[in-house]
Amino acid sequence: MTDFVLVLGVLAAAAAGLWAWRRFHPVSFWYGVGFPLRAVLVYLTWHHVASGCKLTRNRRRFRLTLDAIPVVGLASRSAATVVEHKRRVRRVDVERSPRLGLLRPTRLGWRMRLRLHDGQVPADYEKAAEGIAHAWRVHSVRVVDVRPGSVTLWATMRDPLVEVATVPETGELLTVRPGKLENGRDWVIDFRTVPHWLNVGATQSGKSNLANALLKGLAPQPVALVGFDLKGGVEFTPYAPRLSALATTRKESVDLLVDLVVEVEDRMATCRAFGARNVWTLPEGLRPMPIVVLVDEVAELFLMADKSEKDEVAKTATALLRVAQLGRAFAVYLVVCGQRVGSDLGPGVTALRAQLSGRVCHRVNDPETANMALGDLDPAALDAARAIPAETPGVCIVAGQDGSWHRARSVYVPEHEAEQAARDYTHLTPDWETLVGSAPAVRPAA
Ligand SMILES: Nc1ncnc2c1ncn2[C@@H]1O[C@H](COP(=O)(O)OP(=O)(O)OP(=O)(O)O)[C@@H](O)[C@H]1O
Ligand SMILES: [Mg+2]
Repeated sequence: MTDFVLVLGVLAAAAAGLWAWRRFHPVSFWYGVGFPLRAVLVYLTWHHVASGCKLTRNRRRFRLTLDAIPVVGLASRSAATVVEHKRRVRRVDVERSPRLGLLRPTRLGWRMRLRLHDGQVPADYEKAAEGIAHAWRVHSVRVVDVRPGSVTLWATMRDPLVEVATVPETGELLTVRPGKLENGRDWVIDFRTVPHWLNVGATQSGKSNLANALLKGLAPQPVALVGFDLKGGVEFTPYAPRLSALATTRKESVDLLVDLVVEVEDRMATCRAFGARNVWTLPEGLRPMPIVVLVDEVAELFLMADKSEKDEVAKTATALLRVAQLGRAFAVYLVVCGQRVGSDLGPGVTALRAQLSGRVCHRVNDPETANMALGDLDPAALDAARAIPAETPGVCIVAGQDGSWHRARSVYVPEHEAEQAARDYTHLTPDWETLVGSAPAVRPAA
């Protein structure tokens, strides 16, 4: 009896210990207990899962079989058939599942490499991914890192984008951390790697929130921020203390874009004079201050109320395209937001879009918009963009220029926080006239 009580006590203590471990240190609990258990389950059930998801293949293999052979002579004397069992080696059809590699834990799940059967393609696994996710009882399974003859499956236990807690400020020049990626890593935008960004999404999908996060992240840095807000300036006017220039009408936009083009040309001339290919190879003292241009609702820049505006719109389109084409090397970066950014807006939009190599696609109402933003990527990215629900604003598909894509969510940055950052760093705002007036523009001591 005392033994029984002792065993019960030990079991209860172990359960309480595990509960406390999981509760107070979930990360080490996952690596120490959760993941090894999951790994065993995955290996044990893989054959059934693969078979259910139609990923198995039949192979002919030699197997030892037990055959029932009627015994001649005996059968005729009794009603029951008498048989004798004999072992035999023969070729039979065997169902083989794709060979599993080593399961590697990640913070939110695991990754594992799979060897494709002959005749299989990665698309077969993409099709099966949802079924595998249900079989494993995980949030999602994605096919990543496709190599000849093998794919990597990446399972995530729960959606890490339900709550995003991070700060946009990174402390590194031209680098912002606007949110989190689905794999649990930080979503980092580095303008020196991907200079121009297109940010699309339906209304209330989180475009302006992303712009707020970028503004908050860039505000403490020695960069000039410029805004185009043709929605009457309601979005960006509160951030005016940190903006070196803000255009809220078409006339102002044309003037500001002309200034920007002149500035880019000045920087180009400086680089040429010093034999530099871009501003980063100029001597430190001559290196101009980077400019990040935020455009909210780009369609407004291209809309024409009547024919008289045609020239202005054409001028705007050309100037914006020039800034996009030349800006990269001369530290002028674009973030273009819009609900739709398609050729229907006018000539020049498709060329502009082609220059915006960084893509962010929030929830969209129509498949064409997702297509415009992510069209040249893997079709699974389009499906993921179309599946973003309305109740999670800020969730988006992010694609850099290397062709890979991620589900991500921006951290919530309400207007008052961005306004506060704009006020706190007003002293870092370079004066626009000084910035574009002096050639070469010299970086003021921060
Ligand atoms: N990352 C986020 N996390 C939580 N809530 C968010 C996030 N992004 C946006 N929201 C919420 O969604 C609302 C709409 O976002 P936002 O204003 O950025 O949309 P929008 O795409 O700019 O819409 P519009 O096209 O009308 O300007 C915000 O007021 C905010 O409450
Ligand atoms: Mg908005």
